[in-house]
Amino acid sequence: MRKYLKLAALAAAALMLLPLCGCKRDIPASPEELYSRTSGPTAEPHVMFTPDPNVTPDPVKGSNTMVVFFSASGNTRLVAQKIAQITGADVYEIVPVVPYSEGDLDYSNPETRATIEQRDPNFRPEIAGSLPDLAAYERVFLGYPIWWSEAPRILNTFVENVDFGSAAVIPFCTSGMSDIGTSADRLEELAGSGVWYEGKRFTSGVSRDELRAWITSVCENK
Ligand SMILES: Cc1cc2nc3c(=O)[nH]c(=O)nc-3n(C[C@H](O)[C@H](O)[C@H](O)COP(=O)(O)O)c2cc1C
Repeated sequence: MRKYLKLAALAAAALMLLPLCGCKRDIPASPEELYSRTSGPTAEPHVMFTPDPNVTPDPVKGSNTMVVFFSASGNTRLVAQKIAQITGADVYEIVPVVPYSEGDLDYSNPETRATIEQRDPNFRPEIAGSLPDLAAYERVFLGYPIWWSEAPRILNTFVENVDFGSAAVIPFCTSGMSDIGTSADRLEELAGSGVWYEGKRFTSGVSRDELRAWITSVCENK
């Protein structure tokens, strides 16, 4: 956590110095400007994970469960995949119209795309493909990485444009070190639908047993 606080402080200091050092020219004024410089293939928006035949059936298996996730570098995807295999859930991957390159995710550099986007609370990256219809689902697991203590802005795009109805929304995240903090509370405020549960942070290597125990306890309380 200390590492990220330090990085955040460095980033803020660097930003304040920019007008003085005359190197502002190369920094996009906005995420839109940055996007206009970027090009990339549009990825497939939907991913279905095959349920693992070796996984013992779980109490929630067969229920109307959906796992929605965004993952820029693969960690959250691994956790989402395990949750989907345990629960037998349908899966929807939030895919940006412009995929994030490795350079876009370099959080040690305050000029990179992900950090520029996080600096603007109103920025809404566009999602590729159509959004899922959540009406039929009782539970929605919602996964994302932590970016500067918050959910990536594309999660804002997602929650503002789907209707969770009365589904239980169960957030989860991966991060370098930070806990889930208030990231899910912000999403809940923006969503305005769904019954939001307390979220949890996992490492990408979390065991199936740990995940199953968490899922069972969450679903028992539902
Ligand atoms: C722009 C950016 C900001 C980040 N900020 C934090 C942070 O505040 N705290 C933290 O613990 N990790 C932070 N990380 C690390 C990611 O949360 C972590 O690598 C996560 O597992 C990535 O998930 P993904 O592979 O599904 O994209 C940040 C990563 C990026 C790219």
